[in-house]
Parts: sequence; C-alpha cells; structure tokens
Amino acid sequence: MAKNISLDARADALEQKMSDELDVLLSKSALFNMADGKLGASNAGSDLAARHGKYYLMADDPRLPRMPAKPTLADFFDYRAKGINHLLQSATHALKASMPEKTILACLLHDISNAIFIKSDHGYWGAQLVEPYVDEEVSWAIRAHQALRFFPDESVGYSYPEMYVKNFGPDYVPDDYIKDAYQRARNHKWYMTARMITVHDIYSFDPKAVVSWEPFIDIVGRNFKQPDEGLGFDNSPVSHMWRTIRRPTKYL
Ligand SMILES: [Fe+2]
Ligand SMILES: [Fe+2]
Repeated sequence: MAKNISLDARADALEQKMSDELDVLLSKSALFNMADGKLGASNAGSDLAARHGKYYLMADDPRLPRMPAKPTLADFFDYRAKGINHLLQSATHALKASMPEKTILACLLHDISNAIFIKSDHGYWGAQLVEPYVDEEVSWAIRAHQALRFFPDESVGYSYPEMYVKNFGPDYVPDDYIKDAYQRARNHKWYMTARMITVHDIYSFDPKAVVSWEPFIDIVGRNFKQPDEGLGFDNSPVSHMWRTIRRPTKYL
C-alpha cells in the first residue's frame, strides 16, 4: 500500500512538473483518467488562482508533432501513428499475391484504428474512420475482419491465430456480437475480401523484409478520396474523429 501511495505521489509530481512546463492546462479524457486510476476525478479547479492563471488547451497539444492545416491520410500516419510496419507488411503481402487494389488498400488500412486511435473494437472504428473516403467494399471488409480473425477458413488456409492462444488463453471464446457478425459476414457477397485481410494479416513476417509506403502511394491516390479541406475539416460524418486524433487533449 505504502509503495502504491509513493508511486501515485511520484506520478502526480511528474504530472505536475510536466504541466508546470506548459503554459496551458491539459484536460484528460474519461478513458485516460480511468487508466490512471482516477475514475471520477475532475480536472484542475475552475478558479483562475488554482490554475495559476493558465487557460485550458483549446488548440494543438504542444507535446505532439504539429500537423499541417489540411492533413492528409499520409500526415496522420506520419504524425500520429504507431505500428505502421504491420500495416505495410500486410499490404506488401497482398501486393505480392497480386490481390486487387481494393483488397490491398483494405490490408493497408485494416488496423488504422489501432495505429492512430484505439484498439478495442478496432475493426469497427477503423471502418468508420475511412468509410466516406473509400469504396464501400473496403470499409465493409475492414469492419468484418474484426470478427473473421477469430474464425478459421481452411479453404484459404486460414487457421485460428497461435498468437490469440498466447494472448487470450486457450479457452477464450469471442463475444456473442462477434459470433453474430461472423455469421453475417460469412454469407455476404464481400466475405472473401474481408477474409483476404485475415489471410494477409500476418504476425510473423520476415523480420529482414524492407517495407515502405512507396508501392502504395499510387494505390492510395486512386482509391482513397482525400478531401481538399483536409481530414477533419470536410464536414463528413467522421470529421470529428480525425479532429480528435489531431488534437486529443483539446478541452472541448
Ligand atoms: Fe485487426
Ligand atoms: Fe492486423
């Protein structure tokens, strides 16, 4: 217990030091506070004295790389993403298998949510993020890969991933909504497109393989409708999601 308190105190001190070094106050999402063990905690006091005269951040977070005013998909990968290698490896695998461009794009973007936003239900979030900008088949496949990943299809050599046994235990059973989504996808005309994401969604790739964006620049150009105003400013149904990823600590 004492150890926990001192760890908490140290974390608070570090946080205080970080915020002292900024001339604005940073707000934290409910998710962040939950992870931090501060469920229900409020942000700094509302009176100016307690805030040492600082205002809440309503612009770019100074701790993050500054993004261009009209950000493109590539900018989000450059300035906000982690784990892009997995996406490039999957897309490279699909390219080498001479898959159609739509499938290659789906492989390239299938885990975009994990890379720039959130892991839980990532297939759904990822599909929604790109939906206004890609062919319906691409976003449908990205959404469906979430469920299909858990179900083998020996006809294309796809088995239940070893990594899931390691990560979730041998007795893990997917939630009912995932089972239902699998059944719906299984009977859908685009089933095989989503299935191909899982086939090329490889966790063990040649570690010496050199992957890059280069082979995909034209494919993205032809198949991702980049809005002129920049992602986040095109008044699409998902603009707010891109804006939040750009400025995740904006107070409101
Ligand atoms: Fe995935
Ligand atoms: Fe993946």
